[in-house]
Amino acid sequence: MTDLYKQYSLQNLNTFGLNIKAAWFCRLASTETLNGILEQDEIRELPRLVIGEGSNILFTNDFEGVVINPAMKGIEVVEDDGEQVLIRVGASENWDQWVRHATEKGWYGLENLSLIPGSVGSAPVQNIGAYGVELKESFAWLEAWDLEENMVVKLDSKACKFGYRSSLFKNEGRGRYIITHVTFRLNRTPSLVLDYGKVRSAFAEANGKSPADLRNIIIHIRNSKLPDPKRFGNGGSFFKNPMVGRAIYNCIRVDYPNVPYYPEEENRVKIPAAWLIEKAGWKDVRVGNVGTWPTQPLVIVNYGGATGQEIYDFSEQILEDVDQKLGVRLEREVQVV
Ligand code: EPU
Repeated sequence: MTDLYKQYSLQNLNTFGLNIKAAWFCRLASTETLNGILEQDEIRELPRLVIGEGSNILFTNDFEGVVINPAMKGIEVVEDDGEQVLIRVGASENWDQWVRHATEKGWYGLENLSLIPGSVGSAPVQNIGAYGVELKESFAWLEAWDLEENMVVKLDSKACKFGYRSSLFKNEGRGRYIITHVTFRLNRTPSLVLDYGKVRSAFAEANGKSPADLRNIIIHIRNSKLPDPKRFGNGGSFFKNPMVGRAIYNCIRVDYPNVPYYPEEENRVKIPAAWLIEKAGWKDVRVGNVGTWPTQPLVIVNYGGATGQEIYDFSEQILEDVDQKLGVRLEREVQVV
């Protein structure tokens, strides 16, 4: 059933753990009832915001509009030819539980994306990625409610315009769609991706063989590097790894000959934001209730009692300082509301 609440606390629906409220909150079981709700007089003109588990969002204030929280559940095999399986998953399924289920079932391709916080419906919004794998590689299509056209639409990979931590839903389609179901194309034959950082050596050390072993290794690496949002409020990587031209890269190399980078297309390189932040002197820095995580300064943490504005201001200081010291303008990865 679709439920509608007034003055609803979002404290458990944002992983920064901020004590903020939404003027209206709609837990949406089915899009059939949506029009009736959004057409109510008190609601019609208000801003709308779709959130899943709130793992990539920073509220700087209470939200004076309607928060829509899709509640579609279910995991259903659509097609299985013995090699590839198409599986349709409800938007409100928890991402990591879905990855665990898929791995147990022998549907492979998502192992490297284990333990990423959030819901299935949010995963395409930023094309989640980790340890050499991105969502788009196992994405088939999604279904969404189009708030402009008032109808269900089916969008394939091309229509979703996936890029690095980016998609249609973060750009021109921002605010327009409510993703209700995502369909994945997974493989029955494992194909392990081990080429990122220390994954291969950790896999060998643990005598790993199967995709389930790989999932466990990824979980282990993540737990050792990243803060648990249940204990330390955070939104994962706060910034994107910036893509820079050769000129900027060469400038940085004058002072730091060993600057790490990943070559990208058109003579550009991606530099780890974590490295830039560390070099600018912001690793394990704490100001009041906010700080950068000691083993991964790309993650900004609420050590308890911080406000969204405090977190935002802290991130602004990092942005400006990195720009001034290293000549690179970082871009936030979390959605600021
Ligand atoms: N580094 C430092 N200092 C540090 C940590 C890292 O200089 O304290 C440098 C090192 O050169 C290291 C490089 O940063 O080799 C890369 O670090 P890491 O492997 O931890 O990955 P990342 O590029 O910082 C990205 C994603 C993470 C994802 C990891 C693993 C982005 C914005 N972040 O981080 O995603 O888990 O790769 O694939 O692309 C997230 O999106 O919320 C997230 C955590």
